[in-house]
Amino acid sequence: MSQPWATSGVDLHLDLDPGTGRRTGLEHALRDAIRTGRLAPGARLPATRRLAVELGLARNTVAAAYDQLVAEGYLTARRGAGTRVATLPQLAADGPATGHDTTAPRLDLRPGCPDVTTFPTTAWLRATRRALLAAPASAHSYGDPRGLPVLRHALAEYLGRTRGVHADPDTIVVTCGYVHGLALLAGVLDGPVAMEDPGLPFHRDVVRRAGRTVVPLPVDDDGAHSFPDHVAAAVVTPAHQYPTGVPLHPARRHALVDWARDTGAVVVEDDYDGEFRYDRQPLGAVQGTAPDHVVYAGSASKTLGPGVRLGWLVLPPRLVEPVVEARRHTDLITAAPTQLTLADLITSHAYDRHIRACRLRYRRRRDQLVDTLHGHTALGVSAGLHAVIPHPDETAVLAAAAAEGLALGGLRDHWHDPEGRPGGLVVGYGTPPEHTWRTALDALARVLSA
Ligand SMILES: Cc1ncc(COP(=O)(O)O)c(C=O)c1O
Repeated sequence: MSQPWATSGVDLHLDLDPGTGRRTGLEHALRDAIRTGRLAPGARLPATRRLAVELGLARNTVAAAYDQLVAEGYLTARRGAGTRVATLPQLAADGPATGHDTTAPRLDLRPGCPDVTTFPTTAWLRATRRALLAAPASAHSYGDPRGLPVLRHALAEYLGRTRGVHADPDTIVVTCGYVHGLALLAGVLDGPVAMEDPGLPFHRDVVRRAGRTVVPLPVDDDGAHSFPDHVAAAVVTPAHQYPTGVPLHPARRHALVDWARDTGAVVVEDDYDGEFRYDRQPLGAVQGTAPDHVVYAGSASKTLGPGVRLGWLVLPPRLVEPVVEARRHTDLITAAPTQLTLADLITSHAYDRHIRACRLRYRRRRDQLVDTLHGHTALGVSAGLHAVIPHPDETAVLAAAAAEGLALGGLRDHWHDPEGRPGGLVVGYGTPPEHTWRTALDALARVLSA
């Protein structure tokens, strides 16, 4: 017996198995809804009388099922607060399987995430309100796979102004984050893909899953070099190499563009944290010097938060149609309300103001980190949200940190072949909320000085 629970204030569908007794069936259905997260921790259940009427059961049957689940720890019942779903610790630990670990340690200095408590909720709400009121109804229909024109125009202006990108709204494709753009590109490229060594292992996996062979692109103190023949693309992080933190030397920028011109390969410029440079004006994007040979790829994951799932590709004209075709056959478009909101944030300059405030915060954190290193050094320039600290015994220091409740990134995973390669820490100083930052830094200092 499949029963909608439509009028109780929570939208839930309960599957009551006709083969079991009425009370047992209701208990099963509730346990299942709690385990699968359809009933979230803290959710209030309807009063027994109301649920009994809706399900056609005796009130006593519903009350007995609730009592049973309270006794089992699935529900809590407090006079005046009603019956609610309890927080089950083992469920909280079972995050979805993604490229990122979704469980937060007590002190989190892992790289890859900004301080998400800085998410500009008030500005976002204002922008959403303004944008939705102004948007034509057609914005909520199936649209151009490249994204809404209003956002592509806003991005073209913003990227040209702040990152020196040569951006034509017609060649921009709005994506659900950088990794989505990378997967789309990997699917349309014809041949192996060179990726920086060291680089993010997750991104190598994404390219491989799209059917491409990944070849290592070596990195030294001046960034990527030795661009290979016979590849379809090279994926690079010129503003701030991930993870080493070095910028691509001007001579290498020229060499990269010349290589792309000579071989016909495309450069994919991952500008994941290009807004965050602290010691000087940010370097403009390589794409600005060779828009026919470079894909510029950006993301809101560092500026707003990875949960926003917004990114953008600025494509050489020849790649627009293949990428649009790939998009048309996967997820069609990025959610229109999100696109409209970002467009308003950018055009109202609330996005710039937010980034300026974040830049101050991360710059201060980086300075404090560098002051805490006890003879160790942070590689790379003063930029971004993470720093690499070389260390001869990465495994031991990660274990010592874990014993302090402190999670850090390790460098070794980032090598294409970690055998014999140097280890170190990848410290995401952008990650923790302000109230745990000092404690996390103190714990890191203890681990490093041990
Ligand atoms: C090297 C690098 N590129 C890009 C990104 C942004 O990825 P996405 O937009 O898919 O969240 C990240 C985020 O951690 C990153 O570390």
